[in-house]
Amino acid sequence: MNAPWKSVSAGARDPFTAYVCDDLTLDVVRTVCDDMGWPQEKAFKGGLRNAIQSLSVSASPQILLVDLSESGDPISDINGLAEVCEPGTVVIAMGQVNDVRLYRDLMMSGLQDYLLKPVNPDALRDAVTHAQMILNAPKHDEGAKEHPHLSTAIIGTRGGVGASTIATSISWLLSERMGHLTGLLDLDVHFGTGALALDLEPGRGLTDAIDNPSRIDGLFIERAMIKANDKLSILSAEAAIGNPIMTDGSAFFQLQEEFRAAFENTIIDLPRSMLISYPHLLHDVNVAVVVCELTLASARDAIRLLAWLKSNAPSCHTIVVANKVQAGGVEISRKDFESSIERKVDLLIPFDPKATAQAAKLGRPLVDSVRSSKVAGGIVTLTDMIKSSATPEETIEEGAKSASTSKKSMMTGFKALLVKK
Ligand SMILES: Nc1ncnc2c1ncn2[C@@H]1O[C@H](COP(=O)(O)OP(=O)(O)OP(=O)(O)O)[C@@H](O)[C@H]1O
Ligand SMILES: [Mg+2]
Repeated sequence: MNAPWKSVSAGARDPFTAYVCDDLTLDVVRTVCDDMGWPQEKAFKGGLRNAIQSLSVSASPQILLVDLSESGDPISDINGLAEVCEPGTVVIAMGQVNDVRLYRDLMMSGLQDYLLKPVNPDALRDAVTHAQMILNAPKHDEGAKEHPHLSTAIIGTRGGVGASTIATSISWLLSERMGHLTGLLDLDVHFGTGALALDLEPGRGLTDAIDNPSRIDGLFIERAMIKANDKLSILSAEAAIGNPIMTDGSAFFQLQEEFRAAFENTIIDLPRSMLISYPHLLHDVNVAVVVCELTLASARDAIRLLAWLKSNAPSCHTIVVANKVQAGGVEISRKDFESSIERKVDLLIPFDPKATAQAAKLGRPLVDSVRSSKVAGGIVTLTDMIKSSATPEETIEEGAKSASTSKKSMMTGFKALLVKK
């Protein structure tokens, strides 16, 4: 399969073999074989089972296409295929099930792509061309060390609390000051400000990725992302307001996978609304920074977000930050806010409109343009907290423990706050 790269003599292998379940798909595959200059006879009728039988007694092709339509348990069948398939083969699957969890599990099993049936010739041609590119790409150095990866999501409890300001500044610190390869994934598809804050054009990278999840790979990331400095790349969009996001979320999963391979840090600017449509976005995130303001509405939504994180991402280490804090000018005191959300606010960042105005004028991240300000100091501290946050293994236990605390009691705390007001 395509996961481990080993040197295999490509010359002894067929370039392409397909096992499909129905005549309609067979016709499409044969058409694409013609286009690619491959013999039509290498497209067989018969699904995954036949593929496993044949490959157990013959050499594996360079690209293998298998139809999962007749498979009752695709994941276990794909694992069965992996046992007979030689390393280095790029496997593409097709099937009728449109389910992001299946897609995710198949990708984890080492598949290169999953095409939804009925498959059209263009989609299949794209997928096999892409597979060819992977085969021709320079092979990974097996001796190279895996770099550790830290994925952090920045989520605002309310609009405008400063989540994007913080996400851009953290990305800048990690890359420019600490020298870590960093990718900023701005998932505010229509209104994102990650690129704007750095005086860059957002490009179409993110919308292209959403429209064509099967194209997402290392090469795509390299081309679609814009460079803010030597170590920082941004993937964002400024999608037209009339264009709703049309995806089952597989593109986001695939992007996170590729970011993990390409960078040491992934920073995700994650609008809270995205969690409703794509809860799996948090599955592999190590740290969630929940940005709040000390207001009643923010307290209510912090409670709900923290409870959601506990049940949906128990392995994620959570940091609560109160931003735009004004001495004597807050709607709720820190103490009341903390008793309402039943946990400490880990960090307070002051309200400093002068600093943010200066950063906006210069088109530079806040931590770079107004280094000596308290707000920049707060973000530096936050970045240190993220870097030194517990390892994922530790947080799984912590998260699981805290997940058992009742959400009900948090809402009771919030109601007490309302009475107080
Ligand atoms: N500590 C601060 N002091 C003063 N202004 C701030 C502070 N942090 C952020 N701002 C300002 O608040 C505004 C909103 O910030 P930002 O866009 O980062 O918020 P957001 O939570 O990402 O908003 P959205 O909900 O639109 O995504 C910006 O003008 C920003 O400069
Ligand atoms: Mg934002």
